[in-house]
Amino acid sequence: MSDSRLCPTRLGYVHLRVKNLDESLAFWTRAVPLEVSARLGGRVYLRGGLQHHWIVLEQSADPGLERVALEVETRAELDAFEARLKALGVAFEAGDGLDTERVDRYLRFADPAGNPLELYCDMVAMPTPPTPRAVQLLDIQHVVLAAGDPSRATAFYRDVLGMRESDWVERDVCFLHMKNGWHHGIGVGGFGGAASGLNHVCFQPPGLDDVMRARATVRKLGYPITMDLLRHAPSTSVGFYFAGPDTVAEMSFGARHFTEDAPPRPRLLARGLDTIDVWQQGLVDHEQSVIDELKKMAERQRATG
Ligand SMILES: [Fe+2]
Repeated sequence: MSDSRLCPTRLGYVHLRVKNLDESLAFWTRAVPLEVSARLGGRVYLRGGLQHHWIVLEQSADPGLERVALEVETRAELDAFEARLKALGVAFEAGDGLDTERVDRYLRFADPAGNPLELYCDMVAMPTPPTPRAVQLLDIQHVVLAAGDPSRATAFYRDVLGMRESDWVERDVCFLHMKNGWHHGIGVGGFGGAASGLNHVCFQPPGLDDVMRARATVRKLGYPITMDLLRHAPSTSVGFYFAGPDTVAEMSFGARHFTEDAPPRPRLLARGLDTIDVWQQGLVDHEQSVIDELKKMAERQRATG
């Protein structure tokens, strides 16, 4: 494998420091139908597939994003990443976490915005799938992170981590994909002026029925739906967003998928609510910023309950 193709395979897991572990667990096991796989060292590990965990929760007086972890396919690739980080002068911590954190080997560092990242290989695999639930999940699909300078953050994910740009919305937000080919495994943008942090995490059900069952569950449990059913222009995915105690979660299916030998030419899409939701075509003002449009949409949702 040539060094130029060095790239994580997929988003692996998100580790969150939370204010109230019981409240967070209620959200992550009911609104998002994850299953506890282990409690270890004060942390709760939650899974939706055969991987040991997709989400890690840890009670803290300082709630926030502890880490976004990206899976690397082989130890040889992880070693190559270690050499690359060293060569580029990126400060990192390397460690072995099999007993303590259920990943064999990791590299931890931060992106230029300060978002804490990890590359790991060989997470413990569970011997059986999770107990079947009404809402199936295929994978944890992407995170979107705040970055005060989206162009600088994008250059890091592209040039240091080997990801490929899928699409931009103006130069406000960039979506990048990893080796698994889904339109974005990571998005970075300057949301409302935030310099860093987690904007949302997305899970991928197999289709519309599972999305709608998830939506019915969220409504019944009373968690706020922050953006209701929509189809994104960049990825073409259909889904909805809802807020838990720690972050916003998204359920969406139908994202564009790229193969390694046919990468896309990234588009520079116009800002506007119909870029966020193509079903808003003809209803939006393109002079408004996306942030303004999102605020207006949230106000409309509040007004209509
Ligand atoms: Fe998303």
